[in-house]
Amino acid sequence: MSDAKFHLPIRPRRNRKSPAIRGLVRETVLTPADLIYPLFLHEDDRDDAIASMPGCQRFGLEGLVREVGEASAAGVRAVVLFPKIEESLKTPGAEECHNPDGLIPRAIRAIKSAHPEVAVITDVALDPYNADGHDGLVVKDEKAGDLRILNDETVAVLCRQALCHAEAGADVVSPSDMMDGRVGAIREALDEGDFEDVSILSYTAKYASAYYGPFRGALDSAPKAGDKKTYQMDPANWREALREAELDVAEGADMLMVKPAGPYLDVIRALREEIDLPLAAYQVSGEYLMIKSAAAAGWLDEEKVILESLLGIKRAGADMILTYFAKEAASRLCR
Ligand code: PBG
Repeated sequence: MSDAKFHLPIRPRRNRKSPAIRGLVRETVLTPADLIYPLFLHEDDRDDAIASMPGCQRFGLEGLVREVGEASAAGVRAVVLFPKIEESLKTPGAEECHNPDGLIPRAIRAIKSAHPEVAVITDVALDPYNADGHDGLVVKDEKAGDLRILNDETVAVLCRQALCHAEAGADVVSPSDMMDGRVGAIREALDEGDFEDVSILSYTAKYASAYYGPFRGALDSAPKAGDKKTYQMDPANWREALREAELDVAEGADMLMVKPAGPYLDVIRALREEIDLPLAAYQVSGEYLMIKSAAAAGWLDEEKVILESLLGIKRAGADMILTYFAKEAASRLCR
């Protein structure tokens, strides 16, 4: 055996020889404080399982408050809310999105009074509120048979939506619509309304991704016609993400986001290197389901793959991660 030894001054394996040494040289550490928990809610008092996202539920207000409490106990201190709006409340102008007694304002108040330690983040976009399922206001050109998503008119509605969330007590508003100029306009509207402490987490680089499919099933918010490619980004582009990031910085965003996360790690890395604002990444519904379904089939170890997938996103440069695994991952990290 000893004949096989050769002189090798540099042996990287020395830094992997025991858990103690590996702990000392570990470069990336995932903690529950990094995680943001996306939660679905609806008008019903019951909590319903979501068929398109096994393991996730659509909560009534009571169930929502309970779930936020459990997540907080596990160390997750931020949630983001997604509403399923009754069909009868959906209108072309999406007016329900700024109803002060709407589902989201009521949910914010309920969470804030029960769990004031938890940061409440709200999604700012119109897709749950208009029957078209688009993030903005839609005009249809019947003759040409196509549709246009209005930019500036949409931004005006998004400002009212953001103000409505701020009035109800949201800590952070998070525009996910990808309209041009919305961050600056929302900042101005919040400041004029004396909400200068409410932060903006901008979906800076949100790609037109097939990984959102299960989410749209959860909210019944899939576009009725057309797709989102005239506002969400082309999956082929990363320089364009830098351009979006520079605009968001100039318009006053507090934090930026890349979405989806796993298939866009290079974009996360690029924004981390070029921009000094805190960076979020969203492990979206399709990424969640790929892990869930493979684990359900017995094909991979769910617990380990969840933590590895999140660690990879953090290592790429994300400071915080939105993930449907937040509560589960946090309780595992604390064990
Ligand atoms: C819509 C919105 C979407 C997601 C978050 N906000 C879907 C879309 O843009 O069509 C997707 C999240 C997920 O897939 O987990 N404003």
